[in-house]
Amino acid sequence: MKLISIILLLLISLHANDGVHKFAPSSECNKCHTTIYSEFKGSMHAKATPSQDPIHKAVWDKHPKNKKFNQYVCGKCHTPAANNLDKMITKGQKAMPDPKNATHQEAISCTYCHRITDVKLHAKSNTNIISTDENLFHHKDMSDEMKAGKSCIGCHSHKANKAKLNVCTTDIDNQMGKNCVSCHMPKLGGHTFHGFAGTHNNSEMLEKYVDISIVKNNDNFVVHVKNKSTHALLLHPLRVGVLKMSVTRGSETIKLKKEVFVRIIGKNKKPAMPWVANEVIKNTMIQANENRAVKRDFMIQHGDKINVVLGWFLVNPKAVKKLGLEKEKVATEFKVFKKESFEF
Ligand code: HEC
Ligand code: HEC
Ligand code: HEC
Ligand code: HEC
Ligand code: HEC
Repeated sequence: MKLISIILLLLISLHANDGVHKFAPSSECNKCHTTIYSEFKGSMHAKATPSQDPIHKAVWDKHPKNKKFNQYVCGKCHTPAANNLDKMITKGQKAMPDPKNATHQEAISCTYCHRITDVKLHAKSNTNIISTDENLFHHKDMSDEMKAGKSCIGCHSHKANKAKLNVCTTDIDNQMGKNCVSCHMPKLGGHTFHGFAGTHNNSEMLEKYVDISIVKNNDNFVVHVKNKSTHALLLHPLRVGVLKMSVTRGSETIKLKKEVFVRIIGKNKKPAMPWVANEVIKNTMIQANENRAVKRDFMIQHGDKINVVLGWFLVNPKAVKKLGLEKEKVATEFKVFKKESFEF
């Protein structure tokens, strides 16, 4: 009997995992850290929930765990401060995202991130180990290792599906002296920028990590796009990178064929949703540290100006309709990342 109750107790305490921690709401930090708070509120970390991110919502709406199982498994990374995270990530339980539950809307909150003390590596996706000290938000700050980017890889390293296909990977071992924090949270006027520069917001802060140059040959030219980041230029499989090129000659503008960068996952050689896909059917994405050469058979004349624009669609235009995102600007607009002009 005694042994059974010990086992039961053990089971209960094991069950009391990350999901039942309480987190101080981010608004509390606003009393003193006003700049950091307002940067954070504009970032995707503050808006990672279905009610605040229409792209996430559109994919979640189609996910089998939604209609069939009523279980928001995405909460592990998208709403980790939820007071019922345990249920969200325990098989057989029901727990849906709730716009009225304040702990869900906290998304990836200040204290959630600052209380990550370690990261456990798993094949499917990593797990953050959260300090049980509920007062630990700034009295005892993150370890140096966490500050140097380890706090990011619990959620960002990779996500594999049932078919063991990595839906996205961030090349976490490829640090080259830089890390997630040094690029995405640069020091700005005496504080650490908390707006998390990325594909949605503040991408101009990352422009310097991509170089665009051009080489003129006799009967063609080659544009080089060098990705100096430690991971592929775009990571989420919904993204489409585009390099647009045109020539200004006198008063005329000649448009040249654009170059497209994608990593498309699918099944039976056809694009498929992340939970169905079991193969990468096309990968033309510019990889970490790659210098991609794009050649156009166009003869440059003296006086020509070559205009190059690198940018992206957050949602592949071919998937917009299927996801019902036609009316969402964020999903349909072309976002310009970097522009360069070369005069000859
Ligand atoms: C009453 C004012 C106040 C509130 C509220 C507050 N902080 Fe601070 N915090 C400070 C001061 C003062 C410092 C030390 C000076 C500095 O580094 O800016 C600090 C420093 C920090 C640091 C740097 C680490 C350290 O130990 O120096 C972190 C991280 C931090 N706070 C996070 C938070 C978070 C997260 C919240 C919300 C849960 C929060 N703070 C709420 C005043 C506050
Ligand atoms: C292991 C952590 C993890 C889990 C679990 C997870 N995600 Fe994500 N998700 C991320 C990260 C990290 C990003 C940001 C990646 C990027 O921008 O490339 C992201 C981004 C997304 C995006 C792109 C959002 C946008 O605004 O462009 C969609 C869509 C998405 N996730 C859907 C889901 C759905 C649906 C689930 C649950 C079925 C889920 N995710 C579960 C980590 C996770
Ligand atoms: C608890 C999980 C989690 C942790 C920890 C985390 N992220 Fe994220 N991050 C996400 C999710 C989920 C998204 C996508 C949100 C969405 O688009 O709905 C995201 C999005 C981003 C983006 C894309 C922003 C944009 O504008 O597109 C960047 C950059 C980013 N995170 C950097 C970081 C860095 C740097 C760290 C470490 C300091 C970190 N993240 C820690 C889950 C996490
Ligand atoms: C050398 C600088 C650099 C480093 C180091 C770096 N990144 Fe990036 N990251 C970039 C650039 C450049 C982009 C593409 C431009 C943009 O998103 O604005 C990007 C884009 C992203 C995006 C958005 C991708 C998408 O498809 O929406 C996420 C998420 C991200 N990085 C997370 C991370 C994480 C996590 C780490 C650490 C493991 C990391 N990055 C390390 C420079 C860097
Ligand atoms: C996704 C993870 C993440 C989130 C969310 C986050 N932080 Fe941070 N924060 C960090 C990291 C990593 C550092 C360390 C940066 C360094 O030392 O280079 C940091 C540093 C700080 C510092 C130290 C002072 C400074 O300017 O460097 C303060 C204060 C702070 N954060 C407050 C906050 C507050 C307040 C919020 C919410 C409004 C918040 N953080 C949300 C990851 C996060």
